[in-house]
Amino acid sequence: MFQLTRSVTWQALERLHQKTRDDRIRDYFSADPQRFEKMSLRVGGLFLDYSKHQVSDQVLAKLLELADHSALVQRRAQMFSGDIINVTEDRPVLHTALRNLSDEPVYVDGEDVMPEIQRTREQIKRFSEEVRSGEWKGYSGKRIKDVVNIGIGGSDLGPNMACRALLKYRHPELSFHFVSNVDGTHIQKVLSRLDPATTLFIVSTKTFSTQETLLNAKSARRWFLDNAGEDADVGAHFIAASTNRRAAMDFGIREENVFEFWAWVGGRYSMWSSIGLPIALSIGFEGFMELLEGAHEMDRHFIEAPFAENMPVLMALIGIWYINFVGAETQAVVPYDQALHQLPSFLQQLDMESNGKSVDIFGHPVNYKTGPIVWGQTGSNGQHAFFQLLHQGTRYVPIDFIASLKPEPDFEDHHFALLTNMLAQANAFMEGSQGDTRGHSQLDPYSCPGNRPSSTLLLDELTPKNLGALIALYEHKVFVQGVIWNINSFDQWGVQLGKRIAGEISERIDTNASDFDASTQGLLQLVRRHFPDHATPAKGKTKGKRGKQETSP
Ligand code: F6P
Repeated sequence: MFQLTRSVTWQALERLHQKTRDDRIRDYFSADPQRFEKMSLRVGGLFLDYSKHQVSDQVLAKLLELADHSALVQRRAQMFSGDIINVTEDRPVLHTALRNLSDEPVYVDGEDVMPEIQRTREQIKRFSEEVRSGEWKGYSGKRIKDVVNIGIGGSDLGPNMACRALLKYRHPELSFHFVSNVDGTHIQKVLSRLDPATTLFIVSTKTFSTQETLLNAKSARRWFLDNAGEDADVGAHFIAASTNRRAAMDFGIREENVFEFWAWVGGRYSMWSSIGLPIALSIGFEGFMELLEGAHEMDRHFIEAPFAENMPVLMALIGIWYINFVGAETQAVVPYDQALHQLPSFLQQLDMESNGKSVDIFGHPVNYKTGPIVWGQTGSNGQHAFFQLLHQGTRYVPIDFIASLKPEPDFEDHHFALLTNMLAQANAFMEGSQGDTRGHSQLDPYSCPGNRPSSTLLLDELTPKNLGALIALYEHKVFVQGVIWNINSFDQWGVQLGKRIAGEISERIDTNASDFDASTQGLLQLVRRHFPDHATPAKGKTKGKRGKQETSP
């Protein structure tokens, strides 16, 4: 059986790490004046500089060999053509079909899925135009002013991040709100500012079975009925994006207002589907199509560019270098753009839910590290919060800096400061300060060791198209890493386990729940006192056995 860590290339990379571990990144630049030109590339409106990495030419060549020797070419083709690559859920993985703007068909079980994707796009177009023009009326005949997306995880983070990133393109008469947390204060706070007669709720849930979303949706409906319309009016104020049409209709949503998507769209990859409806409502259908276009362009690049010039492949390989050979545990993402403030959270789910796996696609435990801990927040705020640790702490954290070049009118000086701060940080991380930099033991407290790596991703401008390309870039980066690690990036059984046990615990609130561990029982005892109304006879005994769950996003 093939073992990744025993492969000749893997072992050569381990030796190369020993050989280059004390290399200084800045020395690579002195040795090669062409390094920046060689280690940077442009795809559409995105420019990536990956020269500030502790990656020598030899290391890069070996990493590319790792990709060459992996199943990447085959698995990439399988993904795009609708083969079942999500093996544990027995599904294809076709978010790329959602942004397929070519005339090429995409087959699932022998059937071209493009016509139904087109139909849903048409439905999104019609609906978003009706709401934006004011043609769509609430129960009392007033136009919609506030849109509340109720969803969690992939049914929240993508549209939430994109609506905020593209705020400057928003329809001036519409405001957008995102409710995800089951903590009632979240929805309460949002609802307290709204008028039910002019509010539209989008219940975004692939499965229509997620506890948090259903509770929030029910509370929203109760609020609507208590403060405004009757049952028959719910249809004018609630729509759904879901694969579970029946459940959405049972909730009171009109059949024609259930925006379909499909089991082969993973939750965290779903912003290109009807889960992206808030984006279309906010920036208009044309803008939504531009987002898809940017992603489609990145898809084409990912398919067509040789690995050595392939942006997602290069980012993935550099990540693998740090995770598997240098020993980095985390990856920081620092957008120097306030509009991208939700991007780290979005990428956290994308990466950590996808590649947080420890068995390979055959179910065998892996003996190497997989997905990194992804974290971050906007610069320049981060500079005054966690950058100190990155400069002088004992951790080794590669950073992705992200910014858009084009300044906002009237705020050029702010944007200039923003960009120069980012460049200064990337430089400081690499160069360190002028003190003694021969080793930590000899450092004085004032000097920074430097040699800390970063990539810089520049968008010409934060447009829908460039945002689409940026997100697709990260999706493919995560995919490439998953392929090289030979894991399934498209299931999430750990999340499913938590969802199932939450259901079991709430069902057991009034029993002695003795099949739970003593700690859970003790804590449940404390919780129970505060919920006398939940002490109803136990609904069926479900034991806390680990296993698969029927539905999965
Ligand atoms: O967060 C875990 C998850 O399983 C995600 O993959 C998914 O996006 C989310 O739950 C919500 O699921 P649903 O869209 O079915 O409500």
